[in-house]
Amino acid sequence: MTETATPKRRRVPRETPGVPKTKPGEPPPVVAPETAPDRTPHPAPRPKDAPRTMRDLRLARSSKRRPQKREENPLREGLRLERVPDPSTLVLFGATGDLAHRKVVPALYQLWRTNLLPHEFVVLAIGRRPYDDATLRDELRTSLEKYSRVLPLDEAAWRSFSSRIRYQHLDFADPAGYDALAKRLAEIDKEQNSRGNHLFYLATQPSAFAEIVSQLGRVGLDHERHEGGWRRVVIEKPFGHDLDSAIRLNREVGKVFRERQVYRIDHYLGKETVRNLLVFRFGNGIFEPIWNRRHIDHVQITVAESIGVENRGAFYEETGASRDFLQNHLLQLMSLVAMEPPATFEADALRDEKVKVIRAIGELSPDEIRTDVVRGQYGKGWVAAKPVAGYREEPEVNRDSETETFIAARFEVDDWRWSGVPFYLRTGKRLPKRATEIAIQFKEVPHRLFKDSSSEPDPNLLAIRIQPDEGIMLRFGAKVPGLGIDVRSVTMDFTYGSAFSVDSPDAYETLILDALLGDASLFTRADEVETAWGIVTPIIDSWANDDAPNFPNYEAGTWGPEEADQLLKREGRRWRRI
Ligand code: BG6
Repeated sequence: MTETATPKRRRVPRETPGVPKTKPGEPPPVVAPETAPDRTPHPAPRPKDAPRTMRDLRLARSSKRRPQKREENPLREGLRLERVPDPSTLVLFGATGDLAHRKVVPALYQLWRTNLLPHEFVVLAIGRRPYDDATLRDELRTSLEKYSRVLPLDEAAWRSFSSRIRYQHLDFADPAGYDALAKRLAEIDKEQNSRGNHLFYLATQPSAFAEIVSQLGRVGLDHERHEGGWRRVVIEKPFGHDLDSAIRLNREVGKVFRERQVYRIDHYLGKETVRNLLVFRFGNGIFEPIWNRRHIDHVQITVAESIGVENRGAFYEETGASRDFLQNHLLQLMSLVAMEPPATFEADALRDEKVKVIRAIGELSPDEIRTDVVRGQYGKGWVAAKPVAGYREEPEVNRDSETETFIAARFEVDDWRWSGVPFYLRTGKRLPKRATEIAIQFKEVPHRLFKDSSSEPDPNLLAIRIQPDEGIMLRFGAKVPGLGIDVRSVTMDFTYGSAFSVDSPDAYETLILDALLGDASLFTRADEVETAWGIVTPIIDSWANDDAPNFPNYEAGTWGPEEADQLLKREGRRWRRI
């Protein structure tokens, strides 16, 4: 059964202070940048093909390009207020590295291509290699041809985007380089009239974070000015290696930037379906009353990857699944499922509620770690009908490695809403497929009425598919057509692809745009990061004191070690087959 939403009434966007109201049927208004002078009068009503972004507006004014009429999906019409960031410079540290090439630059290109960046935007790429602008642009183009989510490249968009990219050579540990950087930024600000708006994006090795931040502070690049000019820093994960190092790093960053200037990335929070979880829970009236211990039996969160460690053996040896996934992605997903409704949709209101959940999980005792946490490491096996090597045979991996590539854990949230409801979390590399899913398993009906049915329907289940095939599925019992009363489980399915017929943006597009707009809702706050480490660090420490694990303990291409199944079986449950 497929459910396709057909709105009866078109939704009117919520009114935002300073933003003109949109009437049904009208396109969304252009919102003036945060610190720029209000150059945009707020006309009403606006024609259907009115410019939608500041860039469109400027181009239309100078008659360089007629604004194009967009074919809107009726389900999306009138739903979005597109804001364009202030004129600014994104200073990309680690610009020659893997993350910049695979994720950050493709996201920036896509934002530029879709007119979501201001025209006065510069990417100042920082690296240690002796490049010039042209070398870097050539390299980035080659990567974009591989990693851009929309191919082939749009030549005109690439030409204009690449002209916004500049290269600056800098050795992270050399103070003179930061003086030169400050000078270069001042020149760019003058040339672009970008008023000192700088976003520092740290896509480097984590070991360089503290040094870069402290040098930025030394040359005054953290200072926000009264007359405009914001300064923000985006820090990639992993944020610390354990609780102590995370506290130290937060302290170092806090010496230079104020918390509201710091944007810690967990890219799972930028995924469209993860953001939809908030809308699903708090934008609908019917789920909230049953979202608790009275109706929910347990929750399962699975993040399965079919890939191995690829070319990141050295990194993964230091990390393992607990640091790479549990401390961040999995606990973040769990906090979104379990949090109370925030009073407002503002960054701190949202993060206050998330951190309460993580606090309510509390530290597991050594006994609980032994019984409720399972670790695994893949041996050789078959994935997608191809033979693959075991973890210990991967490049840059120790032949006796004790690093876990799989973790499953049972947590409880000790609060009024969730007391006694287990949350089972699992993640692993080299599992049979790539799939991320949150399954809310409801309780059985209190009284079985249809005892004569030839089969018993399963209790209701809500499965939120984060990726791939993004969507939501509800399972319920239905009568099989016929004279008797036979009840079977059927499903009602919502899929993003068929409902909205648009591609979702990549998580990095969402997050970079939010950081440029100054919206920190989807970034993790210092206390969240530390609280999450407070759960993971005792687990890692306890393993360090245990006997060597019996690794490898699962074959590549299977769903992890047998103990992960036991974790649920002993309580009469099983992992959902995904
Ligand atoms: C990263 C991890 O944070 O997320 C990787 O470091 C992992 O190990 C990746 O492969 C998965 O991201 P996604 O978006 O493909 O699910």
